[in-house]
Amino acid sequence: METVRETAALRRRIRAWREEGAPIAFVPTMGALHGGHLSLVRHGRAAAARLVVSIFVNPTQFAPGEDFERYPRDEAGDLAKLEALGVDLVYLPDIGTMYAPDHATWVVVEGPARGLCAETRPHFFRGVATVVAKLFHRVQPDIAIFGEKDYQQLLVIRRMVRDLDMPVEIIGRPTVREPDGLAMSSRNAYLSPQQRRIAPALYRILCETAEALSRGGSAAPSLATAREHLLEAGFTAVDYVELRDAEDLEPLERLATRPGRLLAAARLGETRLIDNLPVPPVARSATNRSDD
Ligand code: PAJ
Repeated sequence: METVRETAALRRRIRAWREEGAPIAFVPTMGALHGGHLSLVRHGRAAAARLVVSIFVNPTQFAPGEDFERYPRDEAGDLAKLEALGVDLVYLPDIGTMYAPDHATWVVVEGPARGLCAETRPHFFRGVATVVAKLFHRVQPDIAIFGEKDYQQLLVIRRMVRDLDMPVEIIGRPTVREPDGLAMSSRNAYLSPQQRRIAPALYRILCETAEALSRGGSAAPSLATAREHLLEAGFTAVDYVELRDAEDLEPLERLATRPGRLLAAARLGETRLIDNLPVPPVARSATNRSDD
């Protein structure tokens, strides 16, 4: 496995692979790798002849006062995990390599980047879309793999790639969870033992809510109940619990014939957890019943 920090060296390697005609898979990450990241890496390993993983804690997707400084970093541990999975190349740019001091160009996605996480983190998707566009230009992958854990991010990237004609196929992979249901996340390391005991309630309550929504009828009462249950379980604040269209993230007042997605963000003290679940379209008879 090669580790590359300089863009010129990366370009040389990518050019050689493209000349060979070897398809390239790419998994962008911010490191502190866990089983969720590694499931994407395994998928990439099976999907293409060449596999590139990037590790870059991207400052432009953090607002001042967020956790950029204390975001977990474990380069040696990450490299060992990636080597064991047969990654060909790990790209580790530093901040100066990624952003010129007078960097002035941003990729701003609208549509699926509106609302949800953007309500409390308005800077976030501009930073994500810009860094992912830059990484795509450098790595020139044929396919790139993202987790459904960050469902809004996945749809934002898909929309960017479609709208800006980027020649890369975006693959979304399911959320990997701890045995108690908590979605794996680098930020879980921030949780105190007591918060860690509360955290799986997010998944449990989303499951209950998805079940209630799948019976049809107006979504609002089920979403309000979910909020109450999260606070009762010990979450200190609920940023959102919403039902959206699974494909374009437009708000849904009720489930109908299109697949829905239930998405939530809630805080345990300083730590913000997100999770989401698919909600299949209700059966035709249930739709009719709810409309009666
Ligand atoms: P990061 O949070 O490190 O996540 C990297 C990738 O791993 C993302 O596609 C994310 O959705 C996926 N992932 C995280 N937890 C997961 C889980 N439990 N199951 C499955 N996949 C999971 O997301 C980012 O980094 C950044 O925003 C990035 C795209 C790298 C741009 O900076």
